[in-house]
Amino acid sequence: MCGICGVVGHRPATPIVFEGLRRLEYRGYDSAGIATVDKGQVARCRAAGKLDNLGKALQETPLSGSTGIGHTRWATHGAPTTTNAHPHRAGQVAIVHNGIIENFSELKKVLVAKGRHFETETDSEAVAHLLDEHIQQGMSPKDAAFATIQKLQGAYAIAMIFEGHDNLLIGARHGAPLAIGYGEGEMFLGSDSLALAPLSDQITYLEDGDWCVLTQDKVEIFNAKGDSVERPVQTTSLTTGQIGKDGYRHFMEKELHEHPVAIGQTLQRVIDPETRRIALPKMPFDAATLPRATITACGSAFYAGVVGRYWLEEFARLPVDIDVASELRYRNPPQPNQGLALLISQSGETADTLGVLRELKAAGQRIVSVLNVEHSTMGRESDLVLGMVAGPEISVASTKAFTAQLSVLAALTIDFARSRGTLSEERERQLTDSLLDLPSHALDVLGLFDEIRSMARVIAQARDVLYLGRGICMPIAQEGALKLKEISYIHAEAYAAGELKHGPISLIDHTVPVVAIAPSNILFDKTLSNLQEAKARGGRILVFTDAKGAERLKDVAEHIVVLPDIDAFAAPILYTIPVQILAYEVALLKGTDVDQPRNLAKSVTVE
Ligand code: G6P
Repeated sequence: MCGICGVVGHRPATPIVFEGLRRLEYRGYDSAGIATVDKGQVARCRAAGKLDNLGKALQETPLSGSTGIGHTRWATHGAPTTTNAHPHRAGQVAIVHNGIIENFSELKKVLVAKGRHFETETDSEAVAHLLDEHIQQGMSPKDAAFATIQKLQGAYAIAMIFEGHDNLLIGARHGAPLAIGYGEGEMFLGSDSLALAPLSDQITYLEDGDWCVLTQDKVEIFNAKGDSVERPVQTTSLTTGQIGKDGYRHFMEKELHEHPVAIGQTLQRVIDPETRRIALPKMPFDAATLPRATITACGSAFYAGVVGRYWLEEFARLPVDIDVASELRYRNPPQPNQGLALLISQSGETADTLGVLRELKAAGQRIVSVLNVEHSTMGRESDLVLGMVAGPEISVASTKAFTAQLSVLAALTIDFARSRGTLSEERERQLTDSLLDLPSHALDVLGLFDEIRSMARVIAQARDVLYLGRGICMPIAQEGALKLKEISYIHAEAYAAGELKHGPISLIDHTVPVVAIAPSNILFDKTLSNLQEAKARGGRILVFTDAKGAERLKDVAEHIVVLPDIDAFAAPILYTIPVQILAYEVALLKGTDVDQPRNLAKSVTVE
């Protein structure tokens, strides 16, 4: 979703804001813009497309001043043109906005009736006009900001600057994240701690409804009622090194190489090093008597949840309902007393998932979130956070966060199974050991790039691709198909291999490659039969399997990538890695924008 940042300080604002936008570009890259205030005058520069276009525009229209705001956009209302780019100006103010102002049409009608002229098709411009309207009525910037946000409905993080006020930056949040960074004689606003990382390690995350008034030396925070409030200042450990490409061509390539570390660090957090047993924080419920769990998430995180359902049902004998957040939120299924709602999110800010969190919390469910960004809105509103330790994930397509999510869910499964008495001690040890083997196996899989590249050459020529998996490998097929669609723009569908014969088999001919995730587990023979059916119809079969599976598949498959032997329990985590590498290699062959695929954004903070 959009990224915003701002500074009120003593140094030139434009380079600070521009670099902040660079770190936020993963949140949207349809257009970008900066506005500054200098000697009382507000000026702005905007450009459609990537941030580099703004860089070029700034060379022609440099902006002076030490107070400024910036925006990188993921378009919701209005095409991604320069006119629709933020910051929006009206009279004496300029604003940037992340979110959706749901009542913008009503606001616009009133403002137009007052003679105001709207230049853009965006919802956000109404905020600028409303703010200026209050200024024109003689209010101070602070009073005008408060009066404005009280009239807004929907989700927003906003930063505002004002003509005649060089030493003033006002921010507000409701339903979209905003953080304050503290400097020496300068203060910052940013959508997240990544934006602020090189600027400050002292950060305050605003709470929903909060707004803040920043000057060079002072931060004042108010709640939705307008009362002055204190919010904790946290020290972040993010370093700029964590948000660079480290010599890799793309963030996605770097993040694929970080799978072993992400899995290893996450496991270290959930496994006691002395006993080598799973050790999770105390749950806010009794897992032994838990009636049911509901899992929800979006995108890749949802497929991690589907793997979690297979695990929890099989090993912990826990009934699980699962749905994507945008559906679950409005489905209104009956909830058991004190059931568990398990939410999975890399960012902890995805609007659909956050919406479900609030619904289910109100319905009396215990909220446990599996998050990469633990201080996110979901983190603050959950009863318990199970943190994964994946480190910042910048590439829009999720990679290492997915295997880290699975690592947490695997640990949770073992923990629940122990509490519910559904796992022998010996089997528990085997499962935990299989997890502990993962980092080194993951490292071995990273040695398979060349082999996966030859598979990618087949896929890159196709218009449609089928991904097949059975049982717990089905969600990995879904993750593979999603990743391919996202970054290579090739149409891909995942099917349960057994479902092939009930419809999609009619699609198969030599132009539709079939990618199978087929470790030699108890379902291998069934998958093999399904692949033979596909081959009999001219399908080109590409398979990820282990040595034993490869032996059985040699006459069926055109390409086989052989993975290390691994217990069936941990297999979905390991098999994710080559499937994601395949999508990456295809995207390279297609020459697409791997880290910033068209139309997407990483953290989707609107419904
Ligand atoms: C977007 C991203 C996906 C991600 C999904 C959920 O759609 O493009 O890669 O899986 O959001 O994000 P979350 O931060 O909640 O895991």
